This record gives sequence, C-alpha cells and structure tokens, in this order.
Amino acid sequence: MKKIIIANWKMQLSFKDSLILAKELKKKIKNPKNDTVICPGFLAIAPIVDILQGGDLLLGAQNCALKNRGALTGETSPATLNELGVKYVIIGHSERRLILKEDPDLINAKTKAALAAKLIPIICVGETLNERELGQTKKVLLAQVKSALKEVNIKNSSGIIIAYEPLWAIGTGEPIIPFEAEAIHIFLKAEAAKILGKKIRVVYGGSVNGSNAAQFLQEKNIDGLLIGSASLNVQEFASIVKL
Ligand code: 13P
Repeated sequence: MKKIIIANWKMQLSFKDSLILAKELKKKIKNPKNDTVICPGFLAIAPIVDILQGGDLLLGAQNCALKNRGALTGETSPATLNELGVKYVIIGHSERRLILKEDPDLINAKTKAALAAKLIPIICVGETLNERELGQTKKVLLAQVKSALKEVNIKNSSGIIIAYEPLWAIGTGEPIIPFEAEAIHIFLKAEAAKILGKKIRVVYGGSVNGSNAAQFLQEKNIDGLLIGSASLNVQEFASIVKL
C-alpha cells in the first residue's frame, strides 16, 4: 500500500505566501511515489484548489465543524470543504486540544461529520512528556482513540487515518526513535481495528525533517508522515515525498 505524506502548514503563512508555496510544490512534485497532501489555512484553500488543478497533490484542511449545516457562527462545514475538492481533514490536533480546548466529544462529532461529508479524517493523538515519563503512553492513546472513534462507522467511507503525534516531539527538533514509534503504530492499528472492524492507516508526526524521514518510512507499520515546519520548505518537503 502507498504511504501518505501530509503537510500541515498550521497558521505559519500569509495568504500570499500560501499560494506561492502551493504553486512551487505543484511544479516540483510530479507523480509522487506516495500520496501527498497539503493542508493550508482555510482562506487559502479555494484559490489553491485552482492552483493544484492538473497536478498530483491532494488537498486537506486543518480542522472542520462538528456538523455539515446549521447555525454555527465562524465554523467551516466539512460538506463545503468537500464541495471545493478537499479530500482530507486533520481533526483534534494537539494544538487545538490544548489551546482551543477541544474535548473528546467534539473530536468525535467532527470525525463523524467529516465522514458524512466524504472526507477522510486524520485524527491526531499523542501523549505529553509527563504522561510518557509516568509510563501512561498507551493508556492515554487508547482513551483518545476510543473516544474519537466512538460509534464511528467507516463501512461506506474512504477510510480514516490516525496520526500519532507525541506532544513532546512537536516542534522540538526531538522526534521519537523510529523503532519506538513502530511499536506504538502496531498498538494503535490493533486497537483501531478492534473498534472499526477494519484496518486503517497510522502515520507519525513530530519533528520529522529531510534528514530523519526515511528512517520513519522504512518502518513497516508507519504508513506515512504528518509534517509541520519541514513542510514549509519546498526542497525539503519534495525530498521527503520522493523517499
Ligand atoms: P513539526 O513537524 O513542526 O514538529 O509539527 C508536527 C505537527 O504538529 C504536524 O501536525
């Protein structure tokens, strides 16, 4: 199965710079070996849909609303994202869980809304450094997976992805050791399969860059990467996609 490389641009770029980066990536990345997804900020999505026409990059969003229509001031409907041509949506990123106080029920509702809109949710899970040091990693991850996937049905969908992003590895320059990540991916796949009755993809995120990406992609159960800062550099991101 193909691996998947996902760029999470977060809120790092201006509107103008987002369009420039999308144009450069489209030019640079042709026929990638792996599925390649870029997740710009909301305002840049519509023009980037046009920019990516005829190219090989797929589009994702960084968040979505918990339902598809209704009185929800300031939110972005997964159905509208689908209407534009967005295929993937990141849900429950740790920055949203921590800073915007997204709770497990909200993440579960967003997952269901995304699936209903035919988007592929990329559900982020991860432990803090303190939880890791207390030996609670698996317990924390299992609780996050169980709550996000509660009553979720993927029978008629294109699937779901879990992104394992240990919080202590995000933006720190200190990724997890690939061998250790592999063991956690095996655990997450098994637990998700128990709940969903189907195998799903699990990807790794947290300080992945051009120098360490190959080591993660070599692991059998790491199905891809979710990349933050290194995805903002055209050469570096293109070099990862080629691995
Ligand atoms: P970095 O790659 O910058 O550590 O960010 C990872 C991340 O949060 C991707 O969603």
